[in-house]
Amino acid sequence: MATAHRTSAASRLSRRLVVGLIATALVGAGTIATAPVAVAAADEPADKPKIVVVATGGTLAGKAAGRDTYTNYRAGTYPMSDLVAVLQPEVSAFADVEVVQFGNSGSGGYTFPQYHDLTIAVEDALRDADGVVVTTGTDTMEEFAYWLDLTVQSKKPVVITGAMRPWAAGDTASDSMVLGTDGPANLLQSIRLAASQETFCFGTVLSLNDEVHAARDVTKTNSTRNDTFATRLSGMLGWIDGSDVVINRAPARVLDCETNDWFTPFDLRAVSRDAYPRVEIFYNAQAAGGESISAWAAAGVKGVVTAGTGAGGISGAAGQARTAAARDQGVWFVSTTRTGSGSVSGGSGNIIPGGDLLPQKARILLILSRAFTGDVEQARTWFSTLGAPTFDSSALADVVSPTPVAEPEPTVEPTPEPSPSESAGTGAGDPPASASPVPSASETPAAVVGALPFTGGGAPGLAALVAGLALALGVVLYWQHQRRLSAQRGLIH
Ligand code: SIN
Repeated sequence: MATAHRTSAASRLSRRLVVGLIATALVGAGTIATAPVAVAAADEPADKPKIVVVATGGTLAGKAAGRDTYTNYRAGTYPMSDLVAVLQPEVSAFADVEVVQFGNSGSGGYTFPQYHDLTIAVEDALRDADGVVVTTGTDTMEEFAYWLDLTVQSKKPVVITGAMRPWAAGDTASDSMVLGTDGPANLLQSIRLAASQETFCFGTVLSLNDEVHAARDVTKTNSTRNDTFATRLSGMLGWIDGSDVVINRAPARVLDCETNDWFTPFDLRAVSRDAYPRVEIFYNAQAAGGESISAWAAAGVKGVVTAGTGAGGISGAAGQARTAAARDQGVWFVSTTRTGSGSVSGGSGNIIPGGDLLPQKARILLILSRAFTGDVEQARTWFSTLGAPTFDSSALADVVSPTPVAEPEPTVEPTPEPSPSESAGTGAGDPPASASPVPSASETPAAVVGALPFTGGGAPGLAALVAGLALALGVVLYWQHQRRLSAQRGLIH
């Protein structure tokens, strides 16, 4: 399957409402390769961030049976260029938007070779865009998101979004829009978020219902509600109120932003799009049988994530099947919990602990691990590092003072040579220039303010007042000092 290509020159030049679809070629099930389409309004300001929307379909692009119908619709119907056109002219006030129509189908229809192509399409878009918004169906959006988070080799913002209600019920995206559809707002706010650059180095984030979540942790919690996405253990990263993007948490990988440690080893350009082996999820339950595990192993499945009860437990029968599959077919297992939250530890040999990764997220990491290594110990390391990034500032305890550190003394510039009119008082008894009580000519009010410990850049009015007072005091002291010297020399009686 061909990947989506971008030819940005043509689209950058265009400033009309919709330039139009340049090329469309159906390649494989539901995947479309297109040239990018610029979607911009006339008279927009220049020098805006350039954001590429890579569209894959879902309810966001869905056509409903009626304007009041939220559950009866066909996902992936309207082209993204039409959806972005509905956001005009508002979106052009803050972003220069281009569209890559990667596909147009439900989220569940995508294969891992297509996931591979999606990563390449996003990386291609990020070469000269400032950020990318990926649109997908919400059903497996969390898997799309974590895949992109683990594979895209760029620190620029990647935002994934979709909708819980279809866009419209008419023949076009602007005709008979669904009452209360969340699609336009989700798309607009996601473009705003990407344009803001506030999630630079965050990896992929999910933005929906005005909330921002980390790809690793977010999950769909409700089949129909607009507030379906949640991050159970850590909470969301932030939110978007109107035009205000508020980010007050960060994924731990942001600490590596300034180094290459930020990147994962999963550079997809190093493997073929068919490199991804089958990995399945076993859902444990009371007295569960182990036949599915045995059958998967016999069918050539390379990995199984167990969604165990509590802290990862599986039934006796499932445990026996796991032991046999690991021993006889070399299947790798990752232990997780079906509770939806919390960690699983332990495991040895072909059994890797999934930490607090949800089963569907652990499956994504296991697929990538199996594609990139044949060494289960390497995979175990990836699960405990890439799969479980944490903040740890303990190393700073040895190098950073825990209490306030004295500010360095302000440097005072030497006083300039006195002018001839002042030289009458120059003599052996004069104080050295450096001890002059008068600010030097170069000590402008700003320089004085900078030397005052209690003033900062946040209160310029107060700072100017303090500087003025300091200057006036200096002038008075200098005048008194000169009078004293003159008196000492008998010039004043
Ligand atoms: C899908 O995942 O494609 C359908 C559901 C949705 O987009 O919300």
